[in-house]
Amino acid sequence: IQSKKDKLVQIYEEAASFYHQILLNTVTGQEALDYMMQRGFSLETLKEFQIGFSPSNRTALYQMLKAKHFDDELLQESGIFSERRGQNEMFDRFSSRIIFPLRNPKGKTIAFSGRILQASPDTDSDYHEAKYLNSPETLLFNKRDFLFNFDKSRSEIRKSSEVILFEGYMDVVSAWQAGVRNGVASMGTSLTEEQNRMLTKVADNIVIAYDGDRAGIEATKRAIEILDKNKHFDISIFPLEAGMDPDEFIQQKGAKAFCEAIKNNRETSIQFFSRYLKTQLNLDTEKNRITYIETILKALVSLDSLIERELYLKELSDEFGIPVDSLQKQLKGYQQQLISERTGQRQSNPAPISHYKAN
Ligand code: GTP
Ligand code: MN
Ligand code: MN
Ligand code: MN
Ligand code: MN
Repeated sequence: IQSKKDKLVQIYEEAASFYHQILLNTVTGQEALDYMMQRGFSLETLKEFQIGFSPSNRTALYQMLKAKHFDDELLQESGIFSERRGQNEMFDRFSSRIIFPLRNPKGKTIAFSGRILQASPDTDSDYHEAKYLNSPETLLFNKRDFLFNFDKSRSEIRKSSEVILFEGYMDVVSAWQAGVRNGVASMGTSLTEEQNRMLTKVADNIVIAYDGDRAGIEATKRAIEILDKNKHFDISIFPLEAGMDPDEFIQQKGAKAFCEAIKNNRETSIQFFSRYLKTQLNLDTEKNRITYIETILKALVSLDSLIERELYLKELSDEFGIPVDSLQKQLKGYQQQLISERTGQRQSNPAPISHYKAN
């Protein structure tokens, strides 16, 4: 006898193939297909990810599934349908959206994310529909431990011991088409502890390749904090100019440039952190320069590599005209502070950095 979970998976698999056929082979799907092709996605890629389109007819999917004898209770539980008040028809909640099947590590579809065909430039405003709409949480789908493309990327991640973390499904698919096959995406911009745990089992190196906008930068900072907690990963960051995401990089500069850039243009967490701070602090004022230097020094405390630490001290020294010795002393102070915080003992504080004059 089939479990409820198996039947729900069956519903999702049937729905995914329905949506996919609509995108590839119908007049209804033509506009969406044109859109995806114009964005540079090949037919092969659309097939590989079984990308689809949900028709404007909100009951077509329901009728198809009823013809296959799935019962209403289960269809309701799938989360694909919403019941309109006062009507007992079931409406496809993804109607008129491009469909990304979300697959579990075994490659089975367990949820969908639907992208609106015409995203307005201001999608975050209340006046507009959400750009992406996801399945609700179900028996099968828990977004905290879901990683998009983990099923297809896992073998390459294991082989290279490296995973690339993207913000959007579009970025993952686009990177895949460009030849980068170890990419995954979390649901939106917040990486969870569960996702971190999943990834630590398959890789030692992680590259964060989030969008180059404010939201992406903030999310990178939060992701580093989560990933750094258990000290498992060697973390690097792929820096993107403001207003660009990996998919747009590929569209503008090509697949080859992207493959090279993601391999060679990488920042350490400290380099990222320093770039981040500089967007927050105007270094024209002495006060901010001091804050900047102190913040970086505190960040250096947690570095394991002595060589890396020396390198940054030298860079700080050059940039601000402060002797390395002074920076070194201050850093020692922060280390002591950390140790005494951990052991609960009080020790004398280091001299404040303002003691040394920044130029
Ligand atoms: P394109 O605009 O099609 O290129 O998409 P994108 O991949 O650039 O998406 P974006 O950077 O706007 O968002 C990244 C990820 O955040 C998406 O893949 C979604 O997982 C999530 N996301 C974005 N917008 C929404 C939204 O309106 N609702 C929800 N639930 N998630 C969203
Ligand atoms: Mn958004
Ligand atoms: Mn974004
Ligand atoms: Mn994006
Ligand atoms: Mn994008």
